[in-house]
Amino acid sequence: MHSKVWDSIFRSKLPINTNLDRSLVIFNSLTLHIHPVKVREKAIKFSYTFYLGMISFFLFIILIVTGVLLMLYYQPAIPNAYENMKDLQYVVSNGMFLRNLHRWAAHLMVISVFLHMIRVFYAGAYKPPREFNWVVGVVLLVLTLLLSYTGYLLPFDQLSYWAVTVGVNLIQYIPVIGEKTKFLFLGGHEIGEYTLVRFYVLHCVILPLVMVLLIAFHFWRIRKDGGLH
Ligand code: HEM
Repeated sequence: MHSKVWDSIFRSKLPINTNLDRSLVIFNSLTLHIHPVKVREKAIKFSYTFYLGMISFFLFIILIVTGVLLMLYYQPAIPNAYENMKDLQYVVSNGMFLRNLHRWAAHLMVISVFLHMIRVFYAGAYKPPREFNWVVGVVLLVLTLLLSYTGYLLPFDQLSYWAVTVGVNLIQYIPVIGEKTKFLFLGGHEIGEYTLVRFYVLHCVILPLVMVLLIAFHFWRIRKDGGLH
């Protein structure tokens, strides 16, 4: 019924009539394999999860798309960074909209990830066998906050400069490793070109990469822990 090209890409044969056929579609696909083959009816009700996990994921996708577009107009250098921001606001078509979309999605993601954690806590879904996925979730929360923090420096205006100054000054009070960690973040003794480049690489490459891998693992783990609690 289908061409050889179709069959070479999709292993499952149509038509799909039985539950076995349906399961095979999931098992035979790398992308679908992340989903459970069966879901409990109560788990897909809005009032059960308030879709907070998916909303967090959706916001993350918006952030990736708008972030990549913002990268087209941004240079992590002084004074270019600040000028690029002003150009985005006043010169680039829809630049202000793009920047605000990225900013608002970032604020909303922090809120939705936090609310998702509260939901999981009140459902008691942190208990075995889901305790490791809770730990993965905590790392995801920390990553979300780090992404938010590193992004804050990038416009390199007065607000960024002083917010990051306060942040790294707090880090230096961590016992033993405080001073070294502060130096590592700043790429020197005070905020400057190297700090900006470090925050840029963390914000645009390292943290998003780790986030993508961990989110995929988080989803796969939900399936392996027997679906939603
Ligand atoms: C980037 C951040 C995150 C994303 C995109 C995300 C995504 C999701 C999604 C889509 C689900 C399934 C639907 C739902 O429960 O809403 C889920 C479930 C879960 N999440 Fe997250 N999550 C994130 C952060 C967290 C955090 C911060 C925690 C806890 C500290 C956490 C712990 C869990 C657990 C234990 C489950 C399974 C819940 C159950 O079985 O009922 N996640 N996550």
